[in-house]
Amino acid sequence: MSLTVRIDRLRRDLEQVSRFGATAAGGVSRTSFSAADRQVREWLAGAAAQAGLTIRTDGIGNVFLRVDGGEVGGRDGGEVGGGDGAPVWTGSHLDSVPDGGALDGALGSLAALEVARRLVEERVPVRRPVEVVVFADEEGSYHHLCGSTGLVRNYSADELSGLRGRDGDRLVDALAGMGWDPAAATRTAVRPGAVHAFVELHIEQGPILEARNAQIGVVTGIVGLGGGELVFTGRQDHAGTTPMRLRQDPLRGAAELVTRLPELAASVSQAAVATCGIVSVQPGAGNVVPETCRLQLDFRDPDRDRLLALEQAIVAAAEQAAGRHQLRVSYHRDSITDPVALDPRMQDLVESTATRLGLRTLRMPSGAGHDAQNLATLAPTGMIFVPSVAGRSHSPAELTTWDDVENGGNVLLAVVHALATE
Ligand code: GLV
Ligand code: MN
Ligand code: MN
Repeated sequence: MSLTVRIDRLRRDLEQVSRFGATAAGGVSRTSFSAADRQVREWLAGAAAQAGLTIRTDGIGNVFLRVDGGEVGGRDGGEVGGGDGAPVWTGSHLDSVPDGGALDGALGSLAALEVARRLVEERVPVRRPVEVVVFADEEGSYHHLCGSTGLVRNYSADELSGLRGRDGDRLVDALAGMGWDPAAATRTAVRPGAVHAFVELHIEQGPILEARNAQIGVVTGIVGLGGGELVFTGRQDHAGTTPMRLRQDPLRGAAELVTRLPELAASVSQAAVATCGIVSVQPGAGNVVPETCRLQLDFRDPDRDRLLALEQAIVAAAEQAAGRHQLRVSYHRDSITDPVALDPRMQDLVESTATRLGLRTLRMPSGAGHDAQNLATLAPTGMIFVPSVAGRSHSPAELTTWDDVENGGNVLLAVVHALATE
């Protein structure tokens, strides 16, 4: 028996799923709990039924597909098997950033589905259950790595009720809109040891594999992520009558801060990055000097201390800019996700499996965040990267060749098989 994925079927699945939330620009907008997300969840339920997998959704919206009829996840606080019967988890996410690509998250989710199908079809004997996990809101519309965070710790009701999406909507309303009880979203954590191992296939989302002519990235660790909001407050005035020198325009302070981000990141480390991906001015009219300007910040570094130093440097620079332009500024941290090193044994397993399949490998860190960094606190965790053409991602330009998709799927299948027979 040759245990390989069926690339024709995986390709068809990826193409079908890319239609849910397809944008005019050729990308995908599939925020968790949106209409497009409902469509993809419905599609997934159909695919699971066809493959003979049971499906279960926990209180925060993580979906589990399982080969047998056992209980998984924790919509009602239930725990995964544990002990010798602890399952192998594999999966990723099906939500996307606004106008993102068709592969970020979808590849690892649908390849995991294909892995489960192949194990069932070929009646491959496994010692442990294999579960496909599709994490909710990985892209953090409501909270960074929202669904997987709910697996490693329970959200409190207070925290949940304070979480709002990019559009300002409340997470608890979004959950209720899905027909779910928001109270169940406070009971999703699984205990450490309940998962035997987790492995995620993902596109690299950067240029390194392509530049180094490698086919499979063996991920060594995942960057630390910080997120927060800066609000500059000035004075709302008439755009025609207020002399330039008398204005307290909050956008001036915000603009000064944004132009300093490269220098602030470089002051911390060569690997540090800082991004402002959302700017909004209020009240928002062409003929009004704004009262406030909000900046949504994302900052990253592979080292936790340097990550916190970068946050401090940004806040200090914002205060300086505010002082220069007679503004006030406040900062609210949304979240800090610690960097993680991935399990050395999982790295070895991914590397030796890919080498056995005749593929060129490269060990590399991940600059993107992944649910795997939460899972790494629960179970031995590994990640498999495949090349991104021209390193493009979080953009409709995201692309990976079908050969690389097939290679990644085959490495994932062999790794999951090895873990499930331990
Ligand atoms: C997820 O894609 C992230 O790196 O933010
Ligand atoms: Mn992403
Ligand atoms: Mn992703």
